[in-house]
Order: sequence, then structure tokens, then C-alpha cells
Amino acid sequence: MRIIKSIKQMQEVSQDLKRKGKTIGFVPTMGALHQGHFSLMRRARKENDIVIVSIFVNPLQFGPKEDFQKYPRDLKSDAGLCKKKGVDIIFYPAVKEMYVRGFRTYVRVEGLSDVLCGKFRPGHFRGVATVVTKLFNIVLADVAYFGQKDAQQAIILKRMVEDLSFPLKIRVLPTVRDKDGLAMSSRNAYLSQAKRKEAAVLYQALNVAQKLIRGGKKSSADIIRKIKRLIEKRKTVKVQYIAIVNLDSLKPEDIIKGKVLIALAVLVGKTRLIDNIVINSHD
Ligand code: PAJ
Repeated sequence: MRIIKSIKQMQEVSQDLKRKGKTIGFVPTMGALHQGHFSLMRRARKENDIVIVSIFVNPLQFGPKEDFQKYPRDLKSDAGLCKKKGVDIIFYPAVKEMYVRGFRTYVRVEGLSDVLCGKFRPGHFRGVATVVTKLFNIVLADVAYFGQKDAQQAIILKRMVEDLSFPLKIRVLPTVRDKDGLAMSSRNAYLSQAKRKEAAVLYQALNVAQKLIRGGKKSSADIIRKIKRLIEKRKTVKVQYIAIVNLDSLKPEDIIKGKVLIALAVLVGKTRLIDNIVINSHD
């Protein structure tokens, strides 16, 4: 397994692989790797000749008061884990390599970026779309793998790939969860034992919503009110938003019919956690 830090070198290696007819599967990450990332790597390994993982904590997608500085970083441990999963190349650029002095080009996916998480994290999805565009132009992948855990991110990036005609496919894989249902996240490491326990309420709440919908409830407002109350029974958990929206447009669905996305964000203490499920009310 190689670790490449230079953009130019990464592009040359990828161009060479393509000339040789190899297919490239790409898993973009910010490191602090866990089972969620591994499921993407595993699928990439199955479907491609070469697997490239990027590890880059992208300053552009963090707000001024967010956790960019303290975001967990451990290349040595991550590299060992990637090697075990059969990754061929880690792309590990420095911030200065990705954002040269004078950088002023950004990608904005309008409409989808300022709702849900975008409302609470202004500029976040512009940062994501911009870095992923750069990564796509550097890694030259055939297929890029993303997690349903970050549903809004996946929807925005699929829109971007179609709108800007990137010559690659995006695959979105299911959310990997801990035993108690909490979605795996690098940020779970911030939680104390007590808060980690309370965080299980996110998935419990999503399941309650699912039961209500399957039982015939159609009013989003009623369902949201019920599960907000359930979540806020936990002392350290504060709801940022709960939304029931259309899977493509992310527009609110007031009356539930067909497939909907239920997405939520909470603060557990100071740690921001998100989760979501897709529900088909006809099931
Ligand atoms: P990061 O949070 O490291 O996540 C990298 C990829 O792993 C994303 O596609 C994310 O959705 C997926 N992932 C995270 N937790 C998961 C889980 N529990 N189950 C399944 N997939 C999971 O998302 C980012 O980094 C960044 O925004 C990035 C796309 C790399 C751009 O900087």
C-alpha cells in the first residue's frame, strides 16, 4: 500500500492505472476510520481493480466554531487499518497542498445545501462539494462510495455529479450501526460513557417514527412532535432539527405518502450527531 501526498503524483499514478485499463474505486474520508468507512472500502474492493482512500480533514467544511482543530487524526492507525482492508493507495494531502494561496473557486449545489444540516452549518456543503470536486479531479475514479449516514451529503453529491457531468458513478451504502443502533461516527469518540448511552435515543426515535408511519400516521408535524418529545426526555440531548422530506428535493413532506427521508440532528452535550432513515409508507 502506498501513501501519496502530492496532487500531481496522485494524478499521474491514476492516469497510468487508467491507461493500463484498471478500474478505480474511491472512498473519500476524513480519517478516524471505523466500520462505516470499512463497509465502503469492502464494497470498493469487490467492485474495482484498485482501491484509493483519501484521508483529509477538510477545513473548508468546518464552521469557525466547529471542531476542525480537535477532529481526531491518527494516520498511523488509519493506514494500518486501510492496509488490512486491501486498500492500494491512501491519498493524504496537506491543507496547503489542497488550498494554495489565492484559492477562490467553489462549488455550490443550490437549494439542497441550505436546508436541514445546511441551515445549522452555513458553508458546510459548499466545502464538501468543493473538496469532493477536487478529489474527483485528482483521483480519477470510476466509482466513488458514500454512506447513507450522511444522507444530505450523498444527495447533494449525486446532484453535483449529474449536473457537472463528472465521468464517474456514485454508490451510496447503508448506515453501519453499533449494537444499540447508534450510527458509527468519528465524532462518537467525543462522547463520555454516559452521553454515549443517551445517544442511542436517536435511532430509537427514528424507529418510533417508522412504526407510527407503518401504523398509518400521515401527519409529519404530529410524528415530529412525538419523537422530539421522546428525544428530549434525555437530559443531555437537544434537538437541532427533525425533518421529514422528499428523497430527491429535500423539501418537507407535510403529508406522508410513498418514500420519505426522516433526518435529524441533535447536540449531545457539545457533540453534534446526525442520523436518518428512509421509510416507505406503503411497506
Ligand atoms: P467522513 O465523515 O470521514 O465520512 C466518509 C464517508 O463514510 C462518507 O461517505 C460517510 O457518509 C461514510 N460514513 C460515515 N459513517 C458511516 C456509517 N456509520 N455508515 C456508513 N457510512 C458512513 O463525509 C465525510 O467524511 C466528508 O464530508 C468527505 C465526503 C470525506 C468530504 O470531506
